[in-house]
Amino acid sequence: EKKPINVAVTGAAGAIGYALLMRIASGDMLGPNQPVNLQLIETEPGMKPLSGVTMELADCAFPLLRSVQSTTDLEAGFGDAGLAILVGARPRSKGMERGDLLTANASIFAAQGAALNAAAARDVSVLVVGNPANTNALVASANAPDLSPAQFMAMTRLDQSRAAAAVAAKTGAHVRDVERVVIWGNHSATQYPDLTHATVRGQPALKAIGDDAWVKKTFIPDVQKRGAAIIDARGASSAASAASAAVDHMRDLVVGAGDAWLSMGIPSDGSYGVEEGLWYSVPVTCAGKGVYQRVGGLPKPDDFSASMMDATRKELLSERDGVRHLLPKAAGGKGKK
Ligand code: NAI
Repeated sequence: EKKPINVAVTGAAGAIGYALLMRIASGDMLGPNQPVNLQLIETEPGMKPLSGVTMELADCAFPLLRSVQSTTDLEAGFGDAGLAILVGARPRSKGMERGDLLTANASIFAAQGAALNAAAARDVSVLVVGNPANTNALVASANAPDLSPAQFMAMTRLDQSRAAAAVAAKTGAHVRDVERVVIWGNHSATQYPDLTHATVRGQPALKAIGDDAWVKKTFIPDVQKRGAAIIDARGASSAASAASAAVDHMRDLVVGAGDAWLSMGIPSDGSYGVEEGLWYSVPVTCAGKGVYQRVGGLPKPDDFSASMMDATRKELLSERDGVRHLLPKAAGGKGKK
């Protein structure tokens, strides 16, 4: 039998956690032959609801689930983790300014980065889901000096899937026939869902759509604001689809995804005029075993794309400025107290 993979999940008792744990434990994420150990991290108030979730995990009698550990202790929870999915975050409460939210979350992710650095497997892959995801990934990585920044990824897979689904609906294709959709930049309303390279049944998507006004005035804003539309309709935020995107991201990373283009927020290498050290979503391919590679050699973006890519870059810069005090100097910060 294969050796179990240790999967750490923070915010395990939350809405996304509830959907995510079942999918991981059932084998959707790592495949039908891969046993898993779940290492669940919550806050003190989250421990009681988490005990209910772990009762349900036991009652599902999943054949692949080897063990479940619940803890508030970060180093215990991240101990020897091969995969870490950071979902838990401080939600925006009434009257809270955007800057306060950034700082509150940055201190959470600073502590988590340090604990991953101390306790996780050296080849751990870390997926940040909790918002603001890109900047949280930056903060976590900056506090994990012994791990490579490339090991920290911010999730934009849900945006990619939303964009592909919208193109499928528009063209009457199945979502599997929509390829090479790209999400650039921040997981926020400034993201740029780009169809320039996309194909539908192997043909250029923009040609298959044949409606530039729809792309610019409907598709792009709808993808950017899809989360708000779901909250409006459901009275609760998108949890099952966010969990599903995390499953897709980690599966592709670990198992491999051939030549498929997948979007993820990763540390910029300076291309497209994006400062190094910002976590900016770009297309990658996944070879498996946690290895991903940026899609290179793309033609220079046209003026529209360039301005969209620049707007989301600027937002990420201003988010970084908001958390400077939590970044070591080497990561563009003021140095920690
Ligand atoms: P939720 O509020 O239902 O659950 C969050 C859980 O995290 C709670 O159980 C809470 O106790 C826990 N938590 C808070 N701080 C923690 C800490 N320091 N350590 C461990 N656990 C902690 O929220 P939900 O719906 O599960 O969403 C979680 C996050 O995911 C939010 O920040 C949300 O904005 C984000 N999100 C990101 C998406 C993406 O595509 N990147 C998509 C959808 C949501």
